Amino acid sequence: MHDIFAASAPKIEMDEVKLDEQISQLKKNIVLVGMMGSGKSTVGRTLAKHLEVPFLDSDIEIMQASNMTISEIFERFGEVFFREKETLIIRRLLKHEKPGVIATGGGVFLSPENRRSISKRGISLFLNVKFDILWRRVCTKNTRPLLNSSDPFDTFQRLYRERTPIYRTADLMVLEDEEIEIDSVVEQVITVLSAHPDVLIVK
Ligand code: S3P
Repeated sequence: MHDIFAASAPKIEMDEVKLDEQISQLKKNIVLVGMMGSGKSTVGRTLAKHLEVPFLDSDIEIMQASNMTISEIFERFGEVFFREKETLIIRRLLKHEKPGVIATGGGVFLSPENRRSISKRGISLFLNVKFDILWRRVCTKNTRPLLNSSDPFDTFQRLYRERTPIYRTADLMVLEDEEIEIDSVVEQVITVLSAHPDVLIVK
């Protein structure tokens, strides 16, 4: 499918920051947002490791707090319940004593309340991954309850179309229109962040 949102994506014209350069100080939480399959958790974990800051993941926190998988929570208590817990967890993660990298579940940024909390205590970064890549990543897994529909492709396409304009309101964005190594994505993220010394100082 053609990425209808890719055309107007801003070009990154900064010098690229390499991962082996000396990295320094993170002043605000970096909150990764975007579709299921965009790599928020994988990128987030690697980014946090390079910045030597805590890594937090809203889905993992919800699973640990409830001792259930996301699918089990949806099945037993429904999506509304899950979203309420998600809001509480996000608020708590943002208050973590040291700024860190927070990976969010794909639905977190859709809520105006969550967006307000995020902008108060962090900077949001949209991992904007091309539709085809996302679909390839999610279609083989059955861990995402929203895709347990009679036509998962159609559902995913609808979610992508509905949600992308909202993700685009994030403070920053990294565009991935081809499958690239995780370290390259992280380098791009650091490059984008390093243009914001109020968030990250790279020495
Ligand atoms: C959801 C995305 C999932 C998880 C839940 C709902 C969504 O997280 O929070 O299944 O609404 O997009 P990932 O984005 O990490 O897959």
